[in-house]
Amino acid sequence: MARHQIRELSTLDEMEKAAELQRMVWNDESAVVYPHMLISMQRSGSPILGAWDGDKLIGFLLSYFGLESPDADRPAMANLKLVSQRMAVDPQYRDAGIGYDLKLSQRQVAIRLGIRLVTWTFDPLLSRNAHLNIRKLGAIVREYARDYYGDGSTVFGAHGFSDRFIVEWWVTNNRVEQRLSNRRTGLTLEQYLDSEVLIMNPSRPALRGYVQPSEKITMPPSQLAMIEIPDNIADIRDDDPDLAKEWQLHMREVFESAFAAGFIVTDYVRGYYDGRDRNYYVISHADAVLGRLIN
Ligand SMILES: CC(C)(COP(=O)(O)OP(=O)(O)OC[C@H]1O[C@@H](n2cnc3c(N)ncnc32)[C@H](O)[C@@H]1OP(=O)(O)O)[C@@H](O)C(=O)NCCC(=O)NCCS
Repeated sequence: MARHQIRELSTLDEMEKAAELQRMVWNDESAVVYPHMLISMQRSGSPILGAWDGDKLIGFLLSYFGLESPDADRPAMANLKLVSQRMAVDPQYRDAGIGYDLKLSQRQVAIRLGIRLVTWTFDPLLSRNAHLNIRKLGAIVREYARDYYGDGSTVFGAHGFSDRFIVEWWVTNNRVEQRLSNRRTGLTLEQYLDSEVLIMNPSRPALRGYVQPSEKITMPPSQLAMIEIPDNIADIRDDDPDLAKEWQLHMREVFESAFAAGFIVTDYVRGYYDGRDRNYYVISHADAVLGRLIN
């Protein structure tokens, strides 16, 4: 596959291409941010990044400006963040590092503007997004939002749920820099399992090769633990809506308990272990790590 290029979108024609790409990815008109809105945002300074294969738009990332702490007394200039609103990569070009490159460019824009925080949301059950956001980019999560986009009846929900993680990417943080430059790659699944880190919710085999959430959630006795998610939630949602719903409710319970007890999502690991593909978020207690993770 030819190497893609990242550059900002700036013309109305290019915004039309961004609308088309969104239509292709979400297959729902209500998900599309329209060209007139995009051009207006771009002309007001919002970064709208594209990944290009020649003149074909194959990836798109929209961000706008927000406030780090909306209630703070600080002047807006000292309180700015970037909100990353839509990222989409053409399905034919996925898993080739395009999403990653778009995020790296977004980080460069933020740094150039003197902004240290980029936030966005994602469905915690999506393992590809977890791998990209948490593992590769070094983002963290401290907040679980129930039904962020309403009751799940829109394209952004599934089977009555639209729960989201609120992701924080502290772009100038030392640990993020180390992760991006491969100077600190993170432990492997084997290393975590060998060090006997507690799994709060070890899954159990279910029908058709799927897994179901554990009945019991064990709160961590130490400052590190792991939380399991299934490998293939999209298939489960298609094939077994009851099991998908069980996972949704389980996610709420396990992450709300972990966050309430002061834990933060700090890593994500996946790998083949004991006969099947496994996926885990790694959580660490804020008292032990927060100072090193933000700013
Ligand atoms: C999320 C999205 C933008 C990622 O784009 P992308 O170009 O495929 O991303 P990248 O190739 O940079 O990274 C994907 C990573 O996930 C990995 N991956 C693929 N399938 C996976 C799975 N089932 N579980 C975990 N990781 C997976 C890939 O191997 C790759 O990692 P690697 O580079 O270490 O091998 C794209 O999948 C997309 O458009 N999805 C639909 C819309 C969406 O979810 N937008 C984001 C909302 S936050």
